Amino acid sequence: MKIFVDTANLVEIEEALQRGFPGGITTNPSLLSREEKGDFQAHIKKIIGLLEKYGYDIPLSVEVFSSRPEDMVVQAEEFVRQFGHYRSLNVKVPIGWEELAVIRELRRRDIKVNCTCCMSYNQAIMAALAGANYVSLFWGRIRDIGYDAGSVVRQVRATLREANSPAEIIVGSIRHIMDVNEALQAGAHIVTVPPKFFRQMTQHPKTDEAVSQFLGDFQKWLS
Ligand code: E4P
Repeated sequence: MKIFVDTANLVEIEEALQRGFPGGITTNPSLLSREEKGDFQAHIKKIIGLLEKYGYDIPLSVEVFSSRPEDMVVQAEEFVRQFGHYRSLNVKVPIGWEELAVIRELRRRDIKVNCTCCMSYNQAIMAALAGANYVSLFWGRIRDIGYDAGSVVRQVRATLREANSPAEIIVGSIRHIMDVNEALQAGAHIVTVPPKFFRQMTQHPKTDEAVSQFLGDFQKWLS
């Protein structure tokens, strides 16, 4: 069970890294587009700088930004040239027929792959068979079209287990805190979570009540 941080924002990444729980970071072109306009490579290098500063060696996913398979391979090679000193780099490749060949080629070159945008059982299984290290299932988007994301995750996990596949399921597209619980219980190896949920994931009104009662009682006893 691991929680990844689903953001490209440097402040959010640093706040998470300071707290010890992240098992990885996932970015995508949309997340990057929410950051201040600038140099893409410099931004990824800043993320790596933070990982190094806080002593982490955890998967960092960077997504290709072309729909042409040959460009995807070139971009992935360029990522490795630019960021490859960070050994836990993963290249995100969307699922698709042509993209399976990209996954195979990248794995042949020993580049780790996170196959992203999987919305169905078949897509996830095909990605795993092509050699993807991670298959990313998009929980919220699967539900948007009326499917049961929990049963997709459960079935993919069962099949990966039966096949002894080394691929791990990352559940993304988290919209509510409850999605995190349900995705983990359904069998996700990893859930990648937008940072706006992290604080809430540590809070509970009964915790506040207990902490304040303990402090109050102790203060009364001291005075
Ligand atoms: C996962 O790696 C993706 O970054 C992400 O979770 C996408 O989800 P969304 O675009 O539906 O929010």
